[in-house]
Amino acid sequence: MNRRFGLYVHVPFCSVRCGYCDFNTYTADELGEGATRASYADTAIGEIVRAATERGRRPVETVFFGGGTPTQLPSADLVRILDAIDDSFGLADAVEVTTEANPDSVTPDSLTTLRAGGFNRISFGVQSAVPHVLATLERTHDPAGVPQAVRWAREAGFEQLSVDLIYGTPGETMNDWRASIEQAIELDPDHVSAYALIVEQGTAFARKVRRGEVVMPDDDETADKYILADELLTAAGLGWYELSNWARDDAAQCRHNVLYWHSDDWLGIGPGAHSHVAGERWWNVKHPAAYARRLAAGESPRHDGESIDVPTAHLERIMLETRLRSGLDLSILSTAARSHVGDLVGRELATVHDDRMVLTRPGRLLADAVVRQLAG
Ligand SMILES: C[S@@+](CC[C@H](N)C(=O)[O-])C[C@H]1O[C@@H](n2cnc3c(N)ncnc32)[C@H](O)[C@@H]1O
Ligand code: SF4
Repeated sequence: MNRRFGLYVHVPFCSVRCGYCDFNTYTADELGEGATRASYADTAIGEIVRAATERGRRPVETVFFGGGTPTQLPSADLVRILDAIDDSFGLADAVEVTTEANPDSVTPDSLTTLRAGGFNRISFGVQSAVPHVLATLERTHDPAGVPQAVRWAREAGFEQLSVDLIYGTPGETMNDWRASIEQAIELDPDHVSAYALIVEQGTAFARKVRRGEVVMPDDDETADKYILADELLTAAGLGWYELSNWARDDAAQCRHNVLYWHSDDWLGIGPGAHSHVAGERWWNVKHPAAYARRLAAGESPRHDGESIDVPTAHLERIMLETRLRSGLDLSILSTAARSHVGDLVGRELATVHDDRMVLTRPGRLLADAVVRQLAG
């Protein structure tokens, strides 16, 4: 078995729900009885112990605490969860341990506790440097506080520091976006993720778009913003390694996400968390109260699952590898699909080296269409 193994720990709490976000997360008012921040670490540890008993020990190469806002929990609780993973599964020697954090959810003390407890990578949700863009996104932090949070994380000893940005927020000009990228570069991060804002159906933001209160940018403007990000980040020494992710060097890539993109194995801990091991995929009950009740009753929190059949695995591999700078292994393609590759190279959307196809910058803008062509 040469698949890598990681753990994702979902922390379903936020101080405020941003209008655009449909992740499985709750504010204190929304949660009601049965699941509290105070009881969460013990509940999650219950699932970790249960999973290790069922599946056996296996060294964990990456751990990713995501949310929600993991740093809404006391740092000591996050460290206790990490210790439980170590006790139950064992952490590999060079384990990567990431937490997501909102810039206004950390202090020097909380960061020092996390670093001393084994966390070595932090990913800050910065999104934008521009107050009116942050206001449209309903983000709570003051952009002036971001450099301080980053400095605290460096002083606490975090080796790997990442910044999340969003582009294409209604009202964001090209200069706003340039200012956000430039501020992110000034933070001297090891890694940047930049995602186009997605209108998630069912969110407060989607209702505003439907009512015409805010207007989403057109595809050309979004493409121009992607190109600007890629140009500025590349010039600052951050190279793309996945369509929406840039890193200082290979060591600064997010190994946990790379594990997802290679369809390796991972267990998802927490309400709604998804797992993927050896061609099986399953997911937990979504509500934190239902999740806590199951574990308290000695039952599995699993809600449902599926086996990934060969055609689905093939399509997923094309989709994932096409997005990576390491490229798509052309030997997996059918003869018919392979015949399209020459056309993509001729149109300067891709290059081929060592039988792997890598998208050019214009090709990255058309990645979905490329996948449809190769999978069709
Ligand atoms: C779910 S959050 C969790 C971490 C933390 N709470 C934060 O907001 O940074 C992870 C990332 O997903 C992004 N995200 C959430 N909803 C999104 C959407 N509709 N479109 C694009 N990015 C989104 C957030 O902005 C954030 O950078
Ligand atoms: S974007 Fe982050 S802070 Fe905002 S609601 Fe989603 S998880 Fe919470």
